[in-house]
Amino acid sequence: MFDLIIRNANLPDGRQGVDLGLKGGKITAIERSIAATAGDDIDATGRLVSPPFCDPHFHMDATLSLGMPRMNVSGTLLEGIALWGELRPLLTKEALVERALRYCDLAVSQGLLYIRSHVDTSDPRLVTAEALLEVKEKVAPYIDLQLVAFPQDGYYRAPDGVRSLERALDMGIGIVGGIPHFERTMEDGTRSVEALCRIAADRGLPVDMHCDETDDPMSRHIETLAAQTVRFGLKGRVAGSHLTSMHSMDNYYVSKLIPLIAEAEINVIPNPLINIMLQGRHDTYPKRRGMTRVRELMAAGLNVSFGHDCVMDPWYSMGSGDMLEVAHMAIHVAQMAGIEDKHKIFDAITVNSAKTMGLDGYGLDIGCKADLIVLQAADVTEALRLKPNRLFVIKAGKVIARTAPRIGELFLGGRPASIDCAQDYLPQTPQR
Ligand code: FE2
Repeated sequence: MFDLIIRNANLPDGRQGVDLGLKGGKITAIERSIAATAGDDIDATGRLVSPPFCDPHFHMDATLSLGMPRMNVSGTLLEGIALWGELRPLLTKEALVERALRYCDLAVSQGLLYIRSHVDTSDPRLVTAEALLEVKEKVAPYIDLQLVAFPQDGYYRAPDGVRSLERALDMGIGIVGGIPHFERTMEDGTRSVEALCRIAADRGLPVDMHCDETDDPMSRHIETLAAQTVRFGLKGRVAGSHLTSMHSMDNYYVSKLIPLIAEAEINVIPNPLINIMLQGRHDTYPKRRGMTRVRELMAAGLNVSFGHDCVMDPWYSMGSGDMLEVAHMAIHVAQMAGIEDKHKIFDAITVNSAKTMGLDGYGLDIGCKADLIVLQAADVTEALRLKPNRLFVIKAGKVIARTAPRIGELFLGGRPASIDCAQDYLPQTPQR
């Protein structure tokens, strides 16, 4: 007897027509055909069933604040930071919680159940930390929310930046952030990486640093982050977010750098939507794309996962909490449209992100958590192409969200008809 059986599912690894039995919050059977009955059945014939999406890089304290107190006119990262600085003194805990909870509702409807959010610690009031810690507790039954203490205005550059970050960690924020390229000098950036890695080692915490989010090829803080990761014994517990300067670096230097990042086992988190929107803003033409070297980093065996970063905030006026939109952009910017490439990109918003976030029990094996999504697409390549509806979102074996399939109603010369928007016009999808 099961609590729920998902019947006739297609899985991301290409298996088709598989039944999944869920019981006690875990996946307890994966078989060709489960004979037993269940409290509930979902017919997933022709639909992709995947573990939920994971977003390893987000800013939940800023989300849904677009237009407060004004719009970003230049569209640059630096005006976004300045604009956030204008909004920050006006922030209240209540408003932060309300906006974050609204975003979490949206995330659930999109099948996004694991999120790592940076929390700005630049304002010594730390209302951001108070609010997001409350949100973390509130959403715990349905979203696993990890929080990073993030000194947006610079660990050394912001007045009280050093003390505020430590206080945020004391309050219970569990990951050490940083922003070395935004410190006043290269030297301060280098010192900040060392100090923050030391704090993480002393407290036994992971590190997730905004690193080299710039078009300046001389911004090489990732080199220091790799060295300090090895020095402090933090291998596998450190993430380098953005790394956009790598896009503009000299190829010879990158051939030295990537093995250093691999040696330190740093998890790499590009943010394709935000990188393509914010980088290259000072270029005329040709205009740089700004995203880091995804294909080369993956080829070196590094764990690459994609973040959404922003939704409707001072940096990005778009976004919908949909990790398939993030992956869709990554395919274009990284020019990774082959079938194998697309599977690697899908991994970057699922299993790779889960590894970055250190999630236990994530996946599609017996004994894994019964956290699953059913998509209105037949396989991974269709899911990436169509960004289809999430028909069922399942947490701990229970359906927590559902969206009707997108069905088009046609009226053609008095000949009414309907089409399944995800499937009826599809050519046969090639196998890998
Ligand atoms: Fe970010």
